[in-house]
Amino acid sequence: MIARQIVPGIDSLVALDWDRKLFDELVPLHDGTTYNSYIVRGSEKTALVETVYPPFTADYLKALRQAGLTRLDYVIANHAEQDHSGSIPAVLAAYPEARVVTNARCRDLLIDAMGIAADRFITVKEGDTLSLGNRTFQFYLTPWVHWPDTMVSYLVEDKMLFTCDFFGSHLASSDLLAADEARVYTAAKRYYAEIMMPFRMHIRKHLDKLSKLDIAFIAPGHGPAYPRPAFILDLYARWASDEAAPEVIVPYVSMYENTTHMVNHLVDRLMEGGLSVRPFDLVGADTGQVAAALVDASTVVFASPAVLAGPHPDVVAAAYLTNALKPKVKFAAVIGSYGWGGNVVSNRIAEMLSGLKNQVTFFDPVLTKGKPNEDDFKAIDRLVDEIVTANQPMLATAAAD
Ligand code: FEO
Repeated sequence: MIARQIVPGIDSLVALDWDRKLFDELVPLHDGTTYNSYIVRGSEKTALVETVYPPFTADYLKALRQAGLTRLDYVIANHAEQDHSGSIPAVLAAYPEARVVTNARCRDLLIDAMGIAADRFITVKEGDTLSLGNRTFQFYLTPWVHWPDTMVSYLVEDKMLFTCDFFGSHLASSDLLAADEARVYTAAKRYYAEIMMPFRMHIRKHLDKLSKLDIAFIAPGHGPAYPRPAFILDLYARWASDEAAPEVIVPYVSMYENTTHMVNHLVDRLMEGGLSVRPFDLVGADTGQVAAALVDASTVVFASPAVLAGPHPDVVAAAYLTNALKPKVKFAAVIGSYGWGGNVVSNRIAEMLSGLKNQVTFFDPVLTKGKPNEDDFKAIDRLVDEIVTANQPMLATAAAD
């Protein structure tokens, strides 16, 4: 780990976890991840913003020493999760004069998780400031990006915003800055889908609050930093909005190819209708890819055979994930095949999407007994007509853009 200068007096230390495959034993990682910490030196005081994930603590302390950090006044903790705060106890031991600066919710979580002594904290509220001499931090509470404790720290004179999870990307890269915006776009969208999407409404409020700040640089806790903040701010504004794209996601499993035939017919007809379509065979699928596809999509069609009085378990998991991630999806349907008792497939999936029922219109399911016949394909055609008609306003908007 090395310290790299962003501007004089502000260094970035990035713990590169190149090969991590799973985050929180839940989120699949496509490109590893990073844990970013920042050294901010003022004329009188020095602060760290975030620390790193515990397995990197020894390297981190060494890098701090190599960066010439002989005295530390503050550790600013924007979020209590261990990937950012896990090295705080070691930092406090190495720098006995340092105190942790954070909000009350984060302080309590840090005490619970790591037993840090209460007198090592300075507790801040919305709008409070912390002077380093010629540099000043100002703190803004941004709960639920990603836990209820999250906040952001604005360095007033440098117009630099430290955001921890907010605006991050799980992307291990030697690039300190998001120079390759196409690459960062993909990683940031996936990260948004997996981590941030359930908190869309909170994000909108936070974006509104941040729009009042003059931000020249965003320094997140994961992935490359943003020297052009509008890049990620505009993306978040779009992703968190209610504006969906005329896109149909089709998560499916097929056991005897009956469902596959139905999915293929559906996909062809939807494409003829001018819609963007993305089927996902869920067997062995990368769920992060499915989540990312849900960020903009207007429509989701689950396709499943009946298995043991319900949908295939992989489709159940996809429906559960969709419900939990709370995408902006507006239309949903179920198709599939069964040997006996077909309604269990559509009923169970509709139940699993109960969290979306106030925003989603469900079209009638198309369920075939065994191999789909001509009437079944006509039923899919009728479903496609409904989906295309429902998406007309979005198609018109896309054509006008
Ligand atoms: Fe990167 Fe919520 O921790």
